[in-house]
Amino acid sequence: ARPALVDGFGRVHRDLRISLTDRCSLRCLYCMPAEGVPWLPKDTLLTTPEMVRIARAAVAAGVREIRLTGGEPLLRPDVVDVVAALAELRAPDDAPDAGTPVELSLTTNGLALPRVADRLVEAGLARVNISIDTLDRERFATLTRRDRLDDVIAGIDAALAAGLAPVKLNAVAMRGVNDDEIVALTRFAVERGCEMRFIEQMPLDAGHVWNRVEMVGGQEILDVLAREFTLTAVGDRGAAPAEKLLLDDGPATVGVIASVTAPFCGSCDRVRLTADGYLRSCLFAREETDLRSVVRSGADDAAIDAALRACLAGKKAGHGIGDPDFEQPDRPMSAIGG
Ligand code: GTP
Ligand code: 5AD
Ligand code: SF4
Repeated sequence: ARPALVDGFGRVHRDLRISLTDRCSLRCLYCMPAEGVPWLPKDTLLTTPEMVRIARAAVAAGVREIRLTGGEPLLRPDVVDVVAALAELRAPDDAPDAGTPVELSLTTNGLALPRVADRLVEAGLARVNISIDTLDRERFATLTRRDRLDDVIAGIDAALAAGLAPVKLNAVAMRGVNDDEIVALTRFAVERGCEMRFIEQMPLDAGHVWNRVEMVGGQEILDVLAREFTLTAVGDRGAAPAEKLLLDDGPATVGVIASVTAPFCGSCDRVRLTADGYLRSCLFAREETDLRSVVRSGADDAAIDAALRACLAGKKAGHGIGDPDFEQPDRPMSAIGG
């Protein structure tokens, strides 16, 4: 087998996040301006065969989980075909886990799930994470600039009806916006058998207004939850961003993703591919590796493998949020995929 995808700090990379498009059907205040951002030109977007070829090389090098992101991944017209093609990928014959399929998941705003959830499952999708920052219709309309809370809830229900499990719900915790809904969101998730996850806001906002003092931190989220529920930490989280807790002795759980106050970079196993074919070793990387040119130059799979390794060789120890020289990535969040 090819050697694992190891970076300079010995971290082995098994998780590839692929952004399928930079477009989105919502305009969340913390992510995109009302008018959107300059979209990636069509001819720069990887075709599905190009994307699958890169994913195959990554799997040959040890990737075993692929998450599809956006913008909003379900806006890609052939998303079901993408899932079907990636579901064919198997650990190579000379790997210890030869023949094992990759775990395929997707992070979505949920709007298109009533229409496609069944077909995604049929194509081989295992899991979805759905963003829902508030349960208040007016707040939702203000926050996302679209009056579509009911459609997100219909999307959550469609995911559950299609048999996707677990369905995780994501909320970015924001002071004065939704920090009074931590308990209500948790109860909403529990009622449906979903896992609610609260996320510390990271400096990825379109308006560059993020500030650490205002940020709702993981400890604060836990304190609010602890007033309402008995919380019990669930063992080893491996490389997962979320710290998971049992609610009132389970089986329901809640997650806290404290990327800023409790970074998990030391166990990071992720590499990202943008919709236009650039590899990023970190959400906050300041450099990218141009794989689109490699693929379009007619290079062989060894060249793709080499590009993956070159990208990871430049991976930093951590995100550096809070360092005096920290700068937000040049790409907007909507073109990285979270
Ligand atoms: P699971 O595999 O279900 O645990 O998914 P996930 O939580 O890794 O992915 P999801 O797309 O749902 O992202 C949830 C939050 O975690 C978002 O705010 C992401 O931006 C953030 N996130 C995901 N991966 C990373 C990462 O490697 N580093 C940092 N700092 N944040 C991440
Ligand atoms: N910080 C943390 N999470 C964010 N997301 C979007 N912007 C940010 C940010 N600045 C979340 C979305 C979605 C996931 C992919 O990333 O809400 O749930
Ligand atoms: Fe990995 Fe970068 Fe996220 Fe840290 S911030 S966990 S290094 S992607």
